[in-house]
Amino acid sequence: MSVQQTLVLCKPDAVQRGLIGRIIARFEEKGLKIVGLRMLRVDEELARTHYKEHAAKDFFPELAAFITSSPIVALAIEGKNAVEVVRKIMGVTNPQNATPGTIRGDFGLNLTMNLVHGSDSLASAEREIELFFSPEEINDYSLALDSWL
Ligand code: RTP
Ligand code: MG
Repeated sequence: MSVQQTLVLCKPDAVQRGLIGRIIARFEEKGLKIVGLRMLRVDEELARTHYKEHAAKDFFPELAAFITSSPIVALAIEGKNAVEVVRKIMGVTNPQNATPGTIRGDFGLNLTMNLVHGSDSLASAEREIELFFSPEEINDYSLALDSWL
């Protein structure tokens, strides 16, 4: 099982609803390591680049309006099999269908405002971390707990 890095966004609804801390805690509790963390406002250009696979879809205008509506918190998260593990912790895209115990399953009702983003593959993770972080904002460090995780 390889150690991977992945991108998580706490979307505008998570910030507005005061859920950033509780969302980040779930990744920490799982044993994942936060290696990058920043708050920013996504502009139209970044929205289009980040969600380029969705740019031609019907829901894109609504998605772009939402993701640019308020600051977000971006996290680079590291751990064994982190891309898949993070997606499991988030739950499926539509919070109505997401299993209780997942972030979307516990906190969401709305398909657009589904609280979090997680990269969907290792290739996406590499591309997306570069979009939100410069190399010097990614921290290479050990945790005393690493051998227990
Ligand atoms: P994300 O990229 O945000 O981690 O979410 P995902 O992989 O689970 O879902 P994806 O298919 O990539 O969709 C990206 C985001 O677009 C919004 N969405 N709206 N109205 C709609 O039909 C619709 N479908 C998707 C959601 O915010 C979704 O997370
Ligand atoms: Mg996606």
